[in-house]
Amino acid sequence: MEAQKRCLISREDIAQRIKELAAQISRDYPGRDLVMVGVLKGAFIFLADLVRALPFPVVVDFVRLKSYGAGTTSSGEIHITKDVEETLKDRDVLIVEDIVDLGLTLDFLRKHLLTHQPRSLKICCLIDKRERRQVEVPLDYTGFVVEKGFLVGYGLDCAEGNRTWPEVYELLNC
Ligand code: PRP
Repeated sequence: MEAQKRCLISREDIAQRIKELAAQISRDYPGRDLVMVGVLKGAFIFLADLVRALPFPVVVDFVRLKSYGAGTTSSGEIHITKDVEETLKDRDVLIVEDIVDLGLTLDFLRKHLLTHQPRSLKICCLIDKRERRQVEVPLDYTGFVVEKGFLVGYGLDCAEGNRTWPEVYELLNC
């Protein structure tokens, strides 16, 4: 069955917002040794575009966290299946995430990375989806606020499908 979908965020809007986020980040970390930690898999496209919009090089690392099964509901339990490899102690660290929904994933990751004693720890999230929030997490940079919906594309998936769409869609029949 063909996916019923509605385009929520166009590629032009994503590109424009990334320019603005990169400008903000570059003002906040002038000449600093910044480690950007992408949350796999969803954030890989956003991170790739964001780092290339910055006017200075950064160090990139990844964690892999899983909260959802093969379907559309969260198990509520967060698992690290790949941890950071960089030393984070006394360094400026910026988590890069595609979406915050329940908030459990970022809350878990933030607490986990704080145990590494970074000099600073901030969060940059492309989409803040509000409706189902269970745990509030401090978002320092937010791309878009969306109230609800099952979102796919630009890194976000439905059962591993649709991640590579260049826009963000609300999927109506996942
Ligand atoms: C999704 C999404 C966020 C997280 C949000 O990842 O990419 O990382 O869930 O969760 P929250 O409801 O706790 O705020 P998922 O676990 O589906 O893995 P994926 O990134 O590999 O798609």
